[in-house]
Amino acid sequence: MSGRQTPVGTTALFPDPEERARVDALLSRHLRDAHGRVVAGPVTPTIDIGRFKAELAEFDFQQPRALDDALAWVVGTLESGVVHITNPRYLGLFNPAPTFPAQCADRIAAVFNPQLATSTTSPVPVEMEAHAIRAVARRAGFPETATGHFTTGGAEANYTALICALTRACPGFAMEGARAFSGAPTFYVSNEAHLAWLKIAHQSGIGRSAVRLVATDGTGRISVNALSAAIEADRAVGNVPIMVVATAGTTNAGMIDPLAECGEVARAAGLWYHADAAWGGAVVASDRLRGLMANVEAADSMTIDAHKWFATTMGCGMFITRDAAILSSAFQVSTTYMPSNLRDLDPYVTSVQWSRRFLGLRLFLSLAVAGWSGYGEHIERSVDMASCLKDKLLSRGWNVVNNSPLAVLCLSPPPGSPNERSIVSRVLGSGRAWVSTATFEGQPVIRACITHGQTTPDDLDEVVDALQNARGNGA
Ligand SMILES: Cc1ncc(COP(=O)(O)O)c(C=O)c1O
Repeated sequence: MSGRQTPVGTTALFPDPEERARVDALLSRHLRDAHGRVVAGPVTPTIDIGRFKAELAEFDFQQPRALDDALAWVVGTLESGVVHITNPRYLGLFNPAPTFPAQCADRIAAVFNPQLATSTTSPVPVEMEAHAIRAVARRAGFPETATGHFTTGGAEANYTALICALTRACPGFAMEGARAFSGAPTFYVSNEAHLAWLKIAHQSGIGRSAVRLVATDGTGRISVNALSAAIEADRAVGNVPIMVVATAGTTNAGMIDPLAECGEVARAAGLWYHADAAWGGAVVASDRLRGLMANVEAADSMTIDAHKWFATTMGCGMFITRDAAILSSAFQVSTTYMPSNLRDLDPYVTSVQWSRRFLGLRLFLSLAVAGWSGYGEHIERSVDMASCLKDKLLSRGWNVVNNSPLAVLCLSPPPGSPNERSIVSRVLGSGRAWVSTATFEGQPVIRACITHGQTTPDDLDEVVDALQNARGNGA
């Protein structure tokens, strides 16, 4: 216990400036020290969960604790109680080690705590977010008039796309929901797409059966023929196709659906065209790699997560659309208690959320200090590290079954190895690295993705060694 007198009651909630400064400094020290240990230590949790639960039970919220002690306890238990995505040997699902400016942004947002529901309450934050969104939209090739907003993540951005597509397809949708359509609304994603689409269809009221999981072409990209055929088949039985989704960077394998062809199919069929570039979209930052997103600008809307390859803190996604008016049609609402109701401007009438945190500052500040060139370097470095890992594993008899231009490998171990699941479980058990299992084109694989901006070739050597040991063959 600290020797200080514990502030109690409301003083504990709202301490004086000196106390805040003291605790700020203490917390910064705890965090810096913990981060140093996390980077060098095991990637996987080491906590004794039984002991932790016993300690947790002692928080009965009757007896106040000193903040110093509570903070030390929280930081300590997190240090041993999570998978460390900030460890450079985390090669996992696209959760990044966050940029430092994004962490600063969180701190600023926490202190001012601005309410971004309206431009009246937060004129500066609303403009800063809009500025960052416009910059990303233009960098992706969208027209000057394109707009959008920050979301909690890719799932919310994709949900927004579906609501826009439904709203444009049928004026009655706003009032009547799915009942307004002459037949069941359907939309099209590949069977390698992110399956939040099922939840999204469920939430929107059109039901999970509205999602058509279109076959891929054997390389993890949507089959355009199968896409056209699925749309025709639905129309033939009276269903109402409303949207085509191209995934630009599939979750498992980083494959990019043929963006131009998907756009042509959507346009020919009169459907909303959405590009889900939740993690791949950040390649627009790189002059070397931005061509991978060619034709994405033809989409009606696009998802890019700032909290994936742009490496902001979670959750921070982006929804971008060329059709600014649709957002107002989809999300307009009129109230007397809100300070303003500015069409096309107030976030609560142009997006899913109402009360809104200042999420966009994380990307704004990161872009401000790194610029597109800094981000481009970050993206290119990840791709180069993936290629370095690929070489190391190929030379040891592993196979890479996906041919992604992004920073992810779907791996098949050399013949005679234990199965993928047991290799991954042994790697995680060792704590030396974090990789995952996945399925690519029906084949079980080990997935390794470069998500950390400071993973080095030495880290990759350790990952390779952990993989080799896990298959019973030391490097
Ligand atoms: C392609 C794709 N779309 C959507 C999502 C969902 O994004 P989020 O987890 O930010 O909601 C993901 C997440 O991995 C993704 O990879």
